[in-house]
Amino acid sequence: MKILFIGDVVGKPGRRVVKKYLPELIKEHQIDVTIVNGENAAHGKGITRKLYDELRRAGADVITLGNHAFSKRELLDDLADLEYLVRPINLIPTDIGISTKVLEVKGMTLAISSVMGDVFMDNVYESPYDAMNTILDTVEADCHLVDFHGEATAEKQTFVHLFKEYCVAIIGTHTHVQTADESIFDGCAYISDVGMCGVIESILGRDIDEVIDRTIHGIKTHYTIANGPAMLNGLIIEVENGRATSVERLNIRETSK
Ligand SMILES: [Fe+2]
Ligand SMILES: [Fe+2]
Repeated sequence: MKILFIGDVVGKPGRRVVKKYLPELIKEHQIDVTIVNGENAAHGKGITRKLYDELRRAGADVITLGNHAFSKRELLDDLADLEYLVRPINLIPTDIGISTKVLEVKGMTLAISSVMGDVFMDNVYESPYDAMNTILDTVEADCHLVDFHGEATAEKQTFVHLFKEYCVAIIGTHTHVQTADESIFDGCAYISDVGMCGVIESILGRDIDEVIDRTIHGIKTHYTIANGPAMLNGLIIEVENGRATSVERLNIRETSK
């Protein structure tokens, strides 16, 4: 089984590189299942039904979310229909949407879940460790993959060493900055942060001048997505007999827009 995980898609430039590169990547690497973090797809905050459909058409089998999961309120009306959209299990509110999607892939069941870290993160209902124990106690599957949405690297590393024997992959998201520490720990693929799909010269995908105006000059600005060549960040995980056997980090960059 070959799994492709794509980092947080930030606004229109992020969606552009997903549409441009993902279909070819799936073909070229013979990917069986693709997971895309879409928490920033709608102008940097949240996702809508239309953008969910757009990412699915580009090749996403499952779309995971993060702390911005419900930033677009209209999503709440559509949640029941979006059966491949996975929200963090321990994000408040905890009672809407689903936090695990189980897929049948190459004769095995793969459970794809989202868990939020609670270091430097708001609106977290319970610790990621308690949340993961709940998933393991309640979800039946041959393999578990977790999108770990968190800020703190040590928390992500603690999580992987606690749960590596139960998981085939634990993929860090949220910081938007890809780390070069992709590894396999006892058959569990890991990266502290898989990165983002968004503009290369930006502040986490956001316009540099807008962030400086706001942060340094105290100007009330509108959230602005950066403009310019973008990159697609991801990780390919190869799985044999329910354990990860190889990982390949992807960082594909546009040379022009
Ligand atoms: Fe994000
Ligand atoms: Fe996030």
